[in-house]
Amino acid sequence: MNKVTKSPKETQEIAISLSKKIKKGGVVCLFGNLGTGKTIFTKGLAEGLGIENLSIKSPTYTYIRHHKIKDQNVYHIDLYRLKQIDELLALELNEIMHNKKNIIIIEWADRMESILPKKRIDVELEYLDDDSREIKITEHE
Ligand SMILES: Nc1ncnc2c1ncn2[C@@H]1O[C@H](COP(=O)(O)OP(=O)(O)OP(=O)(O)O)[C@@H](O)[C@H]1O
Ligand SMILES: [Mg+2]
Repeated sequence: MNKVTKSPKETQEIAISLSKKIKKGGVVCLFGNLGTGKTIFTKGLAEGLGIENLSIKSPTYTYIRHHKIKDQNVYHIDLYRLKQIDELLALELNEIMHNKKNIIIIEWADRMESILPKKRIDVELEYLDDDSREIKITEHE
């Protein structure tokens, strides 16, 4: 799916509707440069999944945040500060991604491209102008 949004709100609405399609074990990968709307999109996913207290600042000392909502475990991963993935973090991420009970949302997913699962949803955001973004959603089976 390819769509151009004209406001952050419109981007969030796309994310909310995508959130309804995410199944347990689902991995959503966000790609896009600084300020393209990855965090806005994540907020929409979180809202759609029922998470109210999503922290959206890129954490300094942890890449992974866990949210439990009803019987769902949602992991929000933000790799903004990651320079290079090391073995320990790769192990930890693999364990989380292979647990079919988890839902995973990854900002800056390109920074762990080598270990992303085949089955995932890619969301690519591109800056068009100050208010517009192109959003491309691809579901890989
Ligand atoms: N159509 C749009 N969709 C999403 N964001 C938009 C849009 N138009 C303008 N914006 C603005 O772009 C910015 C997107 O910021 P956001 O923090 O979501 O980006 P990001 O990709 O997470 O950046 P970073 O990599 O720095 O964390 C916000 O300030 C938002 O108001
Ligand atoms: Mg961000």
